[in-house]
Amino acid sequence: MSVCIGIDIGTSGTKALAIDATGKILAEASATYPCYHPQPLWSEQDPEDWWRATVKVVRTVVKRAKLKPAAVAAIGLSGQMHGSVFLDHKNQVIRPALLWNDQRTAAECEEIERRAGGRKRLIKMVANPALTGFTAPKILWLRNNEPRNFERTAKVLLPKDEIRRRLTGEFATEVSDASGMLLLDVVKRKWSKRLLSKLELDADLLATCYESEDITGTLTRDTAKKLGLTTDCVVVGGAGDCAAGALGNGIVRSGLLATSLGTSGVVFAHSDEPQFDPQGRLHTFCHAVRGKWHMMGVTLTAGGSLGWFQDALCTSATGKSVSFEQLTAEAGATPPGAEGLQFLPYLSGERTPHLDPYARGALIGLTLKHTRGHVVRSILEGVTYSLRDCLSIMQDLGVPVRQIRATGGGAKSPFWHQMQADVFGKPVTTMAADEGAAYGVALLAAVGAGNFKNITEACKATVETAELAKPNAKARKVYDRGFPVFQGLYGALKGEFPKL
Ligand code: XUL
Repeated sequence: MSVCIGIDIGTSGTKALAIDATGKILAEASATYPCYHPQPLWSEQDPEDWWRATVKVVRTVVKRAKLKPAAVAAIGLSGQMHGSVFLDHKNQVIRPALLWNDQRTAAECEEIERRAGGRKRLIKMVANPALTGFTAPKILWLRNNEPRNFERTAKVLLPKDEIRRRLTGEFATEVSDASGMLLLDVVKRKWSKRLLSKLELDADLLATCYESEDITGTLTRDTAKKLGLTTDCVVVGGAGDCAAGALGNGIVRSGLLATSLGTSGVVFAHSDEPQFDPQGRLHTFCHAVRGKWHMMGVTLTAGGSLGWFQDALCTSATGKSVSFEQLTAEAGATPPGAEGLQFLPYLSGERTPHLDPYARGALIGLTLKHTRGHVVRSILEGVTYSLRDCLSIMQDLGVPVRQIRATGGGAKSPFWHQMQADVFGKPVTTMAADEGAAYGVALLAAVGAGNFKNITEACKATVETAELAKPNAKARKVYDRGFPVFQGLYGALKGEFPKL
């Protein structure tokens, strides 16, 4: 039996699952770890935590599915994108990794655009503008702010690629995640020597870049023993968590688009050709499908906004918080539009469409009438408006949208699913088995193991849609009126945010 394992190194935790040769899930497991915010808008994690969680979840999956060591043929890796693991010559981690939602690199983004000869030229080289969350600005931040650490740095790896190094001993990455480093020529699917030279960065800092289905190595003897597997088990390229999640939901053809509501919110569209937003508001990255691309808009604090509200304002002194179900039930008892209450979900700055690290969260329009339910509704509506911002740019650029698939934790709530249909004014479907990024890379592993010809075939054989929500005419009208107000509020406050 040729079993494959997918592992997703997320921000709140790591998840692993095992699938059989037909794609059926045999077992899954997850483990959590902390995220550190040593200063406002900084965000860091310890790669050792990811590794401990990886070992734990893989061992648990092997045990739960009662797998013999030789049964597991391949592993696929997915992970939070853009994070920077700095390694010295002895492969020791130099400092905690800076994460995708860390906003400390505004000065370095300016430096990159200046060195590249302006934003337009940069977009020509690497398909995207310099954004604070991306990896290249983090490398420059280290050089500018911790020169001693920079001197010691021999390699910079993305989170899942650091786990790959520990699994296989190889320095390797793949095109979908590498795109988010801002050092890949996304059109040619190769490191951009031109930009590296303009930034005075050594190409040896980077790992070898593969296509997502390619085999990048096999388990080392030590790791195989630790995990209860064998050294015949191969590790395929895998994908950044957004592309991996899209594979898990079958976004492998033009016209298919997924929204994903997790800590961050993502609108993801498959593209047969590299397509660009001249203003750089959307990301153009390589897809995990060989020779294809995707466009993506990212809202940094989506489910994270509700999580913040729940933790900061709905938790008792004994640490018990009000459940998500109760909060959404309270929101459901209030009318669409939350009686004039609006929420800007920019709790860690914002990427699409504002590209603004200084943007802040805001509740606007509070009156004595408003209840906790109104606040929760306005949070969900604000996050969904922010996805509509991404969707609108895609539509303006002519990206075909034949079907919208709602995925991620947020899609599991029927209330939030319906709200997406109402806010977008379009039917939105959920997925029969929304197992996310870990499932997507398990499918890539299954291609590596020879269970499927390629990832498109693997998706065709395994992915199905489920519930379709159609827009409710009344709610849609309210949201069509509320959306321009939402957009205007950012415009009105943008000049004030940096002063905070
Ligand atoms: C994508 C991004 C986030 C992280 C979250 O560009 O920054 O979605 O990948 O894990």
